[in-house]
Amino acid sequence: MELGKIIEKIADKPLNSKNKNLLVNREKEFEKINLIISYQPYGIYGICGETGIGKTTVINNIYTDYYSIKISLTQRENQDTILYDILYNIALKTEEDIKISREIKDWILEEVSYIKGFSMGMNFVGNANLATQNQKIPRFNYFKAKEYLNNLTDELVKKYKKVILIIDELDKESKKEVLLVLDNLKLELQKDGIIVMVSLPYSIYREYKYDRMHKNESGNLENVIKDIIYLREFTNSEIKEIIIKRIKDDIQFFDEKVIDLIVDYSDGNPRDAFWIMQKIIFEALSKKINRIEFTFAKNTIKDIVNEYLNEVSLTEKQKLLINEKLYPGIREEIVKNAIDKFKLARSTAYSIFDRLYELGIIIEQNGIYRLSGKYKYLYNK
Ligand SMILES: Nc1ncnc2c1ncn2[C@@H]1O[C@H](COP(=O)(O)OP(=O)(O)OP(=O)(O)O)[C@@H](O)[C@H]1O
Ligand SMILES: [Mg+2]
Repeated sequence: MELGKIIEKIADKPLNSKNKNLLVNREKEFEKINLIISYQPYGIYGICGETGIGKTTVINNIYTDYYSIKISLTQRENQDTILYDILYNIALKTEEDIKISREIKDWILEEVSYIKGFSMGMNFVGNANLATQNQKIPRFNYFKAKEYLNNLTDELVKKYKKVILIIDELDKESKKEVLLVLDNLKLELQKDGIIVMVSLPYSIYREYKYDRMHKNESGNLENVIKDIIYLREFTNSEIKEIIIKRIKDDIQFFDEKVIDLIVDYSDGNPRDAFWIMQKIIFEALSKKINRIEFTFAKNTIKDIVNEYLNEVSLTEKQKLLINEKLYPGIREEIVKNAIDKFKLARSTAYSIFDRLYELGIIIEQNGIYRLSGKYKYLYNK
């Protein structure tokens, strides 16, 4: 086999039931999800995590004996299209089981083709022209769609008692949009017998935690989302396992320490691990190298980091804390060492530390802080 063939083995794709032998851990998260599904009577629950951390993979691997519907949103221009997309997908999946589903499906198809046709015509004629004619632009029939969704969820509960609705790809929206969508569908989705699981962006988790503890604002996330399953970053040994499972037959192409370099670079995110690994392989291929040694991999990572992160501008003092020797450790220890080593004022050292943490240059897990596997190569050519 040749090195290039490894690229397809480390392709960045969510895992599903067909390749779940490649799945690593997430046991606690699956357990939490299963408990919610089994014991909660109703409600909307979020599956939260940074991009590439494995939300879709988790969603794909939820197995339950309850009647469940998994949908992936594609039409996310605005609230109307999201509602239509949800409704259409549920109708499509339940066509065989629920009488009203076919009617709903046909209705949406007709609506969409009418509106699409109209908007194409409008582009042709030109907006200004239409405005002067005071002609009404057709809109999605939001209320009818809501009514249909209400009927459909009622029918589903009547037939199956409990229904699990899993929605992926809502994680590409902002907090405001997610809140609006879910809040406006309260009546239709938050009813006894319906458990809704949605993937949500990381930012929502941060704000959700805040909202849970602060009762004074309106429009809080905690009014809409009953609980959140947070997908943490993987540990180094888990990332290593993820990689090895993919390339176990081809490990001879890599110096063993190269895998550790890749793991370190990934900061616990499998997508980052696959990405840098592909970059290294392509670099080797272009240099006609067929086995990847430590120094080669390290230099490649350095070059890439310096190419991609060169717009990050830090002060000379901030750069001082990008020094591997200070990490890992607890915050106080790191700051104290930095003060001793570089003769910084105490408050300066703390504010530099906090700024670097904010920027994701220093990262934390279980109270232990370390330098991001990416940034440590910056200014360190
Ligand atoms: N538990 C896991 N075990 C092994 N590989 C995983 C696991 N979780 C995720 N991956 C891998 O990590 C990559 C990202 O996963 P996935 O697409 O599920 O993330 P995501 O959070 O849904 O990303 P996005 O934000 O783009 O929707 C994929 O290549 C996937 O195969
Ligand atoms: Mg995803």
